[in-house]
Amino acid sequence: MIRSIALVIDLQRTLTQAQSLFDNYQQCIADIKRPPRGVSYGDMLFAYATIQGLNPPKIVESGRAHGQSTLILSRCFPQTPIISVECDPDQPDEAIALKRLQDHKNVDCRYGDARNVLPQIVSEMDVVLIDGPKIFRALKLVYKLLKNNHPSVIFLHDCVPGTAFRSYIEEHIPWTFFADDPEFLDQYKHLDKDQPLPQPSLGCIAPRPNFPGFKDLLSIQVTRRLDILRTRKSR
Ligand SMILES: C[S@@+](CC[C@H](N)C(=O)[O-])C[C@H]1O[C@@H](n2cnc3c(N)ncnc32)[C@H](O)[C@@H]1O
Repeated sequence: MIRSIALVIDLQRTLTQAQSLFDNYQQCIADIKRPPRGVSYGDMLFAYATIQGLNPPKIVESGRAHGQSTLILSRCFPQTPIISVECDPDQPDEAIALKRLQDHKNVDCRYGDARNVLPQIVSEMDVVLIDGPKIFRALKLVYKLLKNNHPSVIFLHDCVPGTAFRSYIEEHIPWTFFADDPEFLDQYKHLDKDQPLPQPSLGCIAPRPNFPGFKDLLSIQVTRRLDILRTRKSR
């Protein structure tokens, strides 16, 4: 029997929680510098406010790079085990990430392709944040996890407005809400001011009964295939 969440995970709840958690969030990130890549401060306030109250058994993140998202999650949820999966142990960012995370005892840094690892380690009611793989490859993983692993919520980075990827999510998973929502940005864009980096682009996908169904799984398979062909052609 699959447990379900009693509360409604939506933008309104995230906005309300962000207001009450804001001071604490500022303390959590006070001495954290934003690296040249990775999530924005706005993205992570959005995640913090959404996750608060879900009390997940663990948080599973994929795509570590400099460990910015990992570090902020660890600060915001110091009592929650966090597993961070990175596919490339030899990337230059990895040594930086390990150093930044070395004193954060709730973080377990692992290696492997998230598409193979996450389906093996995500348990019911866990929270998942995917920042590698990217785009349709990541969305295919989201569908797989929602179908088989039953997390309480999945965050997906790089849901950039105006892209085919964002349009696909809005059409096929219309209850997804985003960190670039005007109301959220209006209140918190100052967190990333002075940053030459992309603004918040995290999407939050909550589970729904019977999603993904057969048609959804077929659609994402076909879309992913077409995306591979398009990418090959454009090279
Ligand atoms: C944009 S960076 C992540 C930034 C990080 N979340 C942060 O906030 O600092 C993307 C990372 O995902 C990793 N990655 C890409 N595909 C992956 C996969 N299939 N499984 C695990 N990691 C992957 C890349 O090696 C890269 O380090």
